[in-house]
Amino acid sequence: MPLCGWMKVFHELVQRKVQLHNTRQLFLNLGKPKSHSHVLEYSFNDKEHQTEEEVKNLLRSPLIPLFLSHRRTRLLNPEMGVAAKIAPSMLSSDFANLASEAKRMLSLGADWLHMDIMDGHFVPNLTIGAPVIESLRKHTTAYLDCHLMVTNPLDYVDPMGKAGASGFTFHVEVSKENWQELVQKIKAKGMRPGVAVKPGTPIEEVYPLVEGENPVEMVLVMTVEPGFGGQKFMPETMEKVQVLRKKYPSLDIEVDGGLGPSTIDVAASAGANCIVAGSSVFGASKPGQVISLLRKSVQGAQQNN
Ligand code: DX5
Ligand code: ZN
Repeated sequence: MPLCGWMKVFHELVQRKVQLHNTRQLFLNLGKPKSHSHVLEYSFNDKEHQTEEEVKNLLRSPLIPLFLSHRRTRLLNPEMGVAAKIAPSMLSSDFANLASEAKRMLSLGADWLHMDIMDGHFVPNLTIGAPVIESLRKHTTAYLDCHLMVTNPLDYVDPMGKAGASGFTFHVEVSKENWQELVQKIKAKGMRPGVAVKPGTPIEEVYPLVEGENPVEMVLVMTVEPGFGGQKFMPETMEKVQVLRKKYPSLDIEVDGGLGPSTIDVAASAGANCIVAGSSVFGASKPGQVISLLRKSVQGAQQNN
C-alpha cells in the first residue's frame, strides 16, 4: 500500500528513530515548521484518506500513541484515553553521568525525561539550566520534559528553546501577569507549554490557561512542595487532579513528587496520566520494574474509568 499523508510522516519518523510527542515538534524535526492548522490540513485532507472511517483506521496504527497529545487525534479516537507517560526525574540521577543515566532510563522504558530547572529563588535549591539541557540534547532525541521552578520563566524561553527542550512547564504562581505572552513564545520556539501548580495554589488558577485561545497543553499538579526530590507525597493534592480530569478528559495531567509503587494507584485513579518519579525509580534495584508498574497502574485506572 502506498504511504500517504501522515502515514508517510510516521514512516519517516520510524526511519529516523525520532521520538516525538506532538505534531508541531514533528514538523520542526523534519525541518518543515508548520502551524497546527496546517498540520491538521495535511493530516486530514489527504486525498486517499478522507472519510472519518479511514482516518479512524489510520489511528489504529501502533505508532499512534506518539501522537496522543494531539487534541484532534484524541477527539477522533476517544476510546484510547490519554496515554500514560512515565518521566523519571533526572534530579535523582547521577548528574556527573547525565547522558548515560538518561539512556539507561530510556532503555528501561521511560517515555519522557523530567528535567528540574531551579533558580535558587522561586525554590530554595539550585539545579541545572539551559547549558545542561543543550549538552544532554546532543546525546538523545528523547522528550525532555522541563519543569521550570524559576521566578522569571519568560527569561528562560529563548535559551531553553535553543538548548532543545521539548516541554516547557512554568509555574502559575509567577506568571499571572504574562502567561499569554509566555505560552505564545514557548510555542513559537517549538516547545510544548505546560503550567504547574504548587500544593497550596487553587486549581481554578489554571483554568484560563487551559481554556484560552492559545492554551497550555499540560497541567502539572505538584504533589510535594517544589524544590527537592525524595519528599513525602501529599494525598490532599489529589482532589485537584480529580477536578481537572473531570473537567478536561483529554488533557495531559502530570503529577510530580513522592510518586512510586505505594502512591501511584491513588494518583492514577484520580486521573493523572503523566507520572514523574525520581527517588522511587533511581533508588530501586530494578528501576525498569518500577517504570512498568507505574505505567500499568495508569493504564489499569484508565480502563476502569
Ligand atoms: C521537586 C521536583 C521533582 C522531584 C521529584 O521539586 O519537581 O521533579 O525530582 O522527586 P521524587 O520523585 O523523589 O519526589
Ligand atoms: Zn519536577
